[in-house]
Amino acid sequence: MTQRSGCEEPAVLPPPSPPPARFLGVSIAGVGSYLPTSTITNADLGQRVDTSDEWIVTRTGIRERRIAAPDQATSDLAVHAAREALAQARLSPADLDLVILATATPDTPVPPGSAWLHRHLGAVNAAAMDISAACSGFLFAMHTGAGLVRAEMHRNVLVVGAETLTRITDYTDRATCILFGDGAGAAVIGQKGYLELLYSHIGTDSSGRDLITVPAGGSREPASAATVEGKRHFLQLQGREVFRRAVETMTRAGQAALDSLGMKVSDLAWLVPHQANLRITQAVASQFDLPPERVVGDMSGTGNTSAASLPIALNRLQGSGRLKPGDRIMLVAFGAGLTWACQVYENTGVPR
Ligand code: ACO
Repeated sequence: MTQRSGCEEPAVLPPPSPPPARFLGVSIAGVGSYLPTSTITNADLGQRVDTSDEWIVTRTGIRERRIAAPDQATSDLAVHAAREALAQARLSPADLDLVILATATPDTPVPPGSAWLHRHLGAVNAAAMDISAACSGFLFAMHTGAGLVRAEMHRNVLVVGAETLTRITDYTDRATCILFGDGAGAAVIGQKGYLELLYSHIGTDSSGRDLITVPAGGSREPASAATVEGKRHFLQLQGREVFRRAVETMTRAGQAALDSLGMKVSDLAWLVPHQANLRITQAVASQFDLPPERVVGDMSGTGNTSAASLPIALNRLQGSGRLKPGDRIMLVAFGAGLTWACQVYENTGVPR
């Protein structure tokens, strides 16, 4: 069975789309995150595959990752992060009119994972939908939610990035099993809040769609005994090429944001890149000539949690007390698709 759709490949990477207009009147009113309690350490992985703590830490900066309990599905993680974000926003689940769940690992393909989250949360007045954009999923969902708030079609939108990536990780493949972990992060957005959205842009380069893939389980290669036997329901990754494209794409997306806003790198207090690999965040920081202390690169205890990585990192930054009024924060993501996204916020320090 062919994996290709038959489309001609573009010869070169397309340039980024023209910068969009500045978003006004949309803010984050609360953030939250949740990590399951059990861990998989590098030493644990060394028992399963031919690897070492030293190799993993040097190549990725990761020391351990969290793993969901057997009875926890993605929505069970998501609901904890959602409740924390709602508490900070001083809203109840009934105040929400839209729930967006960004995930590549929904509880079930049908119904959408967001329906499970909607149920656990009791968001009785909200519609719920999933967005699938892999590691860029949270920012794709924030972009969508922000657009709907700005258009005054929704008032209080909960956006959650949540993953149980360990359920699609092949623990006999040393090149991928070292990378991924489970977790959830959330943000409540509306017209009022303390992090004002200044810029939002999303993009896709489908010429790289085979670089990060779960080949089977969809309509292109339906589940069968052979696909299970061939481990084709696990995440496969061409690590070196993904690394190269991640650095190049996130740098370009960040620069496009600065150009659009008429800002310089020195106007940013914080750069929060997708938390995939410490070497990737360091490489992006060095492209921008940013000192390490202004770049959030803290995946040592979580690994790559895909759509959950940015809201977890943002919540950690917010909770650390290091975020000061007036700080501008750039979030930039990259993931399977290939997808990328960038948002810039300003901390107005004024809660709703
Ligand atoms: N332990 C020891 N050796 C290993 C391991 C391991 N865990 N994994 C691979 N190796 C070996 C390889 O077999 C290879 O050996 P060889 O030279 O004898 O053939 C050697 O190490 C080098 O392998 P590379 O894959 O070239 O190693 P690299 O330095 O590129 O690091 C890594 C691999 C960590 C995966 C890196 O490429 C990476 O982080 N890529 C980006 C992955 C990522 O962050 N993706 C984000 C998106 S994922 C998503 O969207 C869900």
